[in-house]
Amino acid sequence: MALYDTVKNSVDPKHSFDEVLTYASRKSRYLLRVLLELSPVCNFSCPFCYVRKSSQEILEEGKSILRFSYWKGVLDELFEMGVLYVGFTGGECMLHPDFIEIYEYAAKKGFFIYLISNGSCLTEGILDSLKKYPPTNISVTVYGGSEETYQRICGKGEYYNRLKANLQRLSKAHIPFSVQMTVSRDNVNDVSEVFKLCRHLDVRFGCANTLISCERCTEEIQEANRVSDEEYRDMMRLLHHIDNKGVTPSPMPVAPKTNLSGITCSAGRSSAFINHEGMMLLCVSYQEMRISTLEHTVYDCWREIVKAADQIPRIEECNGCIHGARCVQCFGAHYYDTGNYTTPSPNLCFKRKHPEEAARIEAYYAEHGVLPPAEF
Ligand SMILES: C[S@@+](CC[C@H](N)C(=O)[O-])C[C@H]1O[C@@H](n2cnc3c(N)ncnc32)[C@H](O)[C@@H]1O
Ligand code: SF4
Ligand code: SF4
Repeated sequence: MALYDTVKNSVDPKHSFDEVLTYASRKSRYLLRVLLELSPVCNFSCPFCYVRKSSQEILEEGKSILRFSYWKGVLDELFEMGVLYVGFTGGECMLHPDFIEIYEYAAKKGFFIYLISNGSCLTEGILDSLKKYPPTNISVTVYGGSEETYQRICGKGEYYNRLKANLQRLSKAHIPFSVQMTVSRDNVNDVSEVFKLCRHLDVRFGCANTLISCERCTEEIQEANRVSDEEYRDMMRLLHHIDNKGVTPSPMPVAPKTNLSGITCSAGRSSAFINHEGMMLLCVSYQEMRISTLEHTVYDCWREIVKAADQIPRIEECNGCIHGARCVQCFGAHYYDTGNYTTPSPNLCFKRKHPEEAARIEAYYAEHGVLPPAEF
């Protein structure tokens, strides 16, 4: 009822159904979206990855992966709680031995399903399931535009051609998918190639140069993998030059200063993450607060996650900052860089990284009352 009232009172014809629902769920702390990390096992070995494990490593650690019976129980609980969107990720989710069973179970329950995948393990059986029960989207991470780049990043050069063939198969079967590129030093020169491939397939392309540091990939490792903002901007200019559809700069929005306490993204407000060990977390990028769904009900875990989200203080300096759309807003990324919740990370804060440009933007804002468009 609370959710219904919030939706009813906040409907604005300018916003899509999904936007209204997300807004209302965040306000009511209604769990709308859950990402499930089926297993850490992956066939690739990207150097910046926070999760990857080989089957051999799992065996050597004496661990096992959670099978269908566990994930079925989780899906049943999420269904009872009224969750609408369920995402599957990994490692490589399509390598999970029970992937088809889990996927079809979730689809038959009526969840909107999205997948995050490296796109290299699309068997005929999986494609049949996707045709029978189309997901809302598969976000395929493409790591480069050649066998050489796939060898350099993923350790598997031969998978590049397989990946390309799989994208064609998805396209031919009319399965909704988009391409996402995690940009690092090893593939920054391939971005235009992948972009052209997406234009050829007529699918959405997105990319990001944010590599979050974690236990395995320390800040030094990520710093060696990361491309600078300048290189990233040059690359975006190149894409704009190839085809400005979809990469046209638009006026940047300014987030208003708010009185909300706690974190401001949807983590712990309307979304959560359950990792391959059955731990519920606020999101993939913040691993400090975790509670076991093997020991508690999913609902009780969610209540604890909501409380934890409220206790994480907002970075005061970011509240109402006009540069918010130009920097990384993820509180987990800032926290892992600085070790505290109060200071923006010097690696992520636009003002600190580009003080002269920030001053120019502030002067423009003072004069015009709006921000200048992002430059290309
Ligand atoms: C962990 S992967 C799992 C799904 C699948 N194996 C894939 O590569 O798409 C999910 C996404 O996180 C990205 N990723 C991995 N490690 C990251 C890190 N440390 N910082 C930012 N993104 C990362 C991957 O490139 C991928 O787009
Ligand atoms: S493909 Fe995905 S899960 Fe596998 S190593 Fe790369 S980022 Fe990690
Ligand atoms: S520019 Fe710095 S202070 Fe402003 S929102 Fe980004 S991180 Fe926060």
